[in-house]
Amino acid sequence: MENKLINIKNNAIPMIRDAETPQELEEVRVQVLGRNGQLTLAAKEIKDVPAEDRPRMGKVINEIKTIVEDAINTQLSSITNQQSKRKAAIDVTEPGIKPSLGHLHLITQAIHEITTIFEQIGFTRVRYPEVEWDWYAFEALNFPENHPARDDWETFFMKEEPDKEKGPMLLTPHTSSGQVREMERHVKQAKQTKQPIDIKMLNIAKCYRRQSDVSHTPMFHQFEGLVVGKGIAITHLKGTLDYFVKSYFGEKRTARIRPYHFQFTEPSFEVDVTCGVCLGKGCKLCKAGWLEMGGSGMVHPNVLKAGGIDPEEYTGFAFGWGVERVLMMKEGITIDDLRLLYSNKLEFHEQF
Ligand code: PHE
Repeated sequence: MENKLINIKNNAIPMIRDAETPQELEEVRVQVLGRNGQLTLAAKEIKDVPAEDRPRMGKVINEIKTIVEDAINTQLSSITNQQSKRKAAIDVTEPGIKPSLGHLHLITQAIHEITTIFEQIGFTRVRYPEVEWDWYAFEALNFPENHPARDDWETFFMKEEPDKEKGPMLLTPHTSSGQVREMERHVKQAKQTKQPIDIKMLNIAKCYRRQSDVSHTPMFHQFEGLVVGKGIAITHLKGTLDYFVKSYFGEKRTARIRPYHFQFTEPSFEVDVTCGVCLGKGCKLCKAGWLEMGGSGMVHPNVLKAGGIDPEEYTGFAFGWGVERVLMMKEGITIDDLRLLYSNKLEFHEQF
């Protein structure tokens, strides 16, 4: 009998190890340990064994039962382990997780668009310091010290000691601070190349003013154009303005210039564009059909002089318009509060 029991065990163990699924394992279990299983039936034969051998036989049966059960349990856990590992590796049938895609910030998109429009007519994009000297932001632009016109620029000043020649340091309140820097660069270049001065600057930068409401933020962006050459006239300014308005806002929008005052241009103009909602008829958004885009004018002779250029020989025009402003004028009521542009409200940004 003992041999029979050992044979049952020796048969069962390889079958258990070969089982690849829990179902196969269950079949082996029923075959060996089930009610009519090999071991169960063999155990019934114990009554034929001489009485003195029965306790030992009983022990052997129990031991084999334990060995078979242990083997089944071990195999079962290795099968389930392998199954979950395989699943974790790759299940090509599972639906994928779509990564959420962002996009460039609206202002960055607008800057790219504006740059492309002006580059097509020969402008070159430049950048000048955001932390600037009073000289470039005001003094060289024909603002005498303590002139009341400075108040319009609601400037943030730095704590640093003022420079003896260039005055205090400040956060530039407009991109016009790049005008004289650009003139200096070209004058130097013209001396080397002995070519006439030919400036077509596009300066797009952050500007800072002490202001905050639905149409103003303390930090904002301007794009500044400066053209200096021989025989540059107001018609060139108006042509450039019209070209920009048609390219950026579309064929249906038109522009106008209105007399105004700036220290650094003479004559000076404010520039308006027809409202995108009513196209000039007048509505709630614009009131009289026009939206203001920014300033412009013919470069003041004193500014050319400050940049080392002879105003008898050269003339120029300049304009400075707000990036947020043109974006708002293009998108209309979608951007009814400028401060949203700098908020982390994704519902707002995801609209674009
Ligand atoms: N710098 C002016 C402003 O910030 C705009 C301007 C630029 C006006 C160039 C005239 C010429 O309002």
